[in-house]
Amino acid sequence: MHAVGIVAAAGSGLRLGADRPKALVPLADRPLVCWAVDTLRDGGVADVVVAVPGDELSAFVTVLPLDVRLVVGGTTRTASVRAALAAVGTGADAVLVHDAARPLTPPDLVVRVLEALSAGARAVVPVLPVVDTTVVVDDDGVVADTVDRSILRRVQTPQGFARDALVDAYAWLPPDAELTDDAAVVRAAGVPVVTVAGDERAAKVTVPHDMALAELQVSR
Ligand code: CTP
Ligand code: MG
Repeated sequence: MHAVGIVAAAGSGLRLGADRPKALVPLADRPLVCWAVDTLRDGGVADVVVAVPGDELSAFVTVLPLDVRLVVGGTTRTASVRAALAAVGTGADAVLVHDAARPLTPPDLVVRVLEALSAGARAVVPVLPVVDTTVVVDDDGVVADTVDRSILRRVQTPQGFARDALVDAYAWLPPDAELTDDAAVVRAAGVPVVTVAGDERAAKVTVPHDMALAELQVSR
């Protein structure tokens, strides 16, 4: 199976509030995007396309390995993945889509996703259980209901797809559609999405506290 990796790195990182796009923020002196590319490669996905912000292209060229392909992303994550997907050749059987913002994702997770694809799944997501009591609130913030968390999962990346399933789903999606992950795109197009075990280390860096936690993990 020939798998190509896509790294979504074209966001600005508003919630992190750094002085540069989130994917360029250093963790132990290496930009987050470099960690994400390494995870894919260490997990067995050598061919990688990275979607980057158009106005920062040269900064990404400077930090990434020469054999990584760069494309200019869009204003939403969905648009960025769509742009990267257009650069994936028809020779690929599978596509793994990963967030630059998940720098400490272990390569094992990539392997689990690839194995599920090899076993015949057309869409695969890593998931973790929800550990906190989870509630529904009304417009005033008053608790309206408690959700049965045993049926809920938190979804991570990398997410894996049969290439044709992902291409078809994006082709079917309206141009301005905005979904927070790719499995949602494929599922909306009617493809069953299977799950594999996620990993707490694949947590997304969203706010400054997440960055502090990641720094602690690499300093041990
Ligand atoms: N992403 C992207 N293109 C966009 C928006 C997001 O490629 N237009 C990527 C980000 O670079 C990130 C991943 O999607 O690796 C997950 O998104 P998120 O954590 O929301 O990152 P940002 O959108 O950059 O952060 P924020 O929402 O706080 O601005
Ligand atoms: Mg965002």
